[in-house]
Amino acid sequence: MTEKALKPFTIDFDLITGLSKSTESTKRPLSKMQGMFADDRAFNAALQQDDPLVYEFYELDLPETAGNLLFGTSIVYPGKVGDEYYMTKGHFHTILDTGEVYYCLSGEGAMLMENPEGDCNIQYFSPGKAVYVPPCYAHRTINLGKEPLVTFFTFRADAGHDYGTIETKGYRKLIVERDGKPEIIDNPKWKE
Ligand code: NI
Repeated sequence: MTEKALKPFTIDFDLITGLSKSTESTKRPLSKMQGMFADDRAFNAALQQDDPLVYEFYELDLPETAGNLLFGTSIVYPGKVGDEYYMTKGHFHTILDTGEVYYCLSGEGAMLMENPEGDCNIQYFSPGKAVYVPPCYAHRTINLGKEPLVTFFTFRADAGHDYGTIETKGYRKLIVERDGKPEIIDNPKWKE
């Protein structure tokens, strides 16, 4: 990491797509989401047809040091696997005791959170709303609308990501469409 990155700078945001298109994003197509959705049959059937982009995120290459902040944007595309809305994998931070803030730039959706003790919470995104993720809560962004859900996030730069816990255990709750509306249900695949 160059010293230059630690000097103040300004960056342009595209309110529709997040960070400028000149930045590379990390992409999660459906094929990278094996096992994340509750309905494996619907997942496999969808993957037979196509491999659409479920979400992607842009993050600047800043030093992951204590005292620094990382930030970027996340875009979750509209869609469903079976009746479950497109979402991010979700993660804890390696430094579990890490909070994070997400600010909605465009789209409609939700932040699904849970902590290791089993407290579950959901907060909703619409443009102009910020969601506070307290320390120790896993967080997953879910698109409940018809447009891409674009959020800006920032958190301590040395926190790291723990995807494995969610990949293994899943979330206690998930959000599905029932009669055209989002409904929170228990995750049938959740493992204690
Ligand atoms: Ni996070």
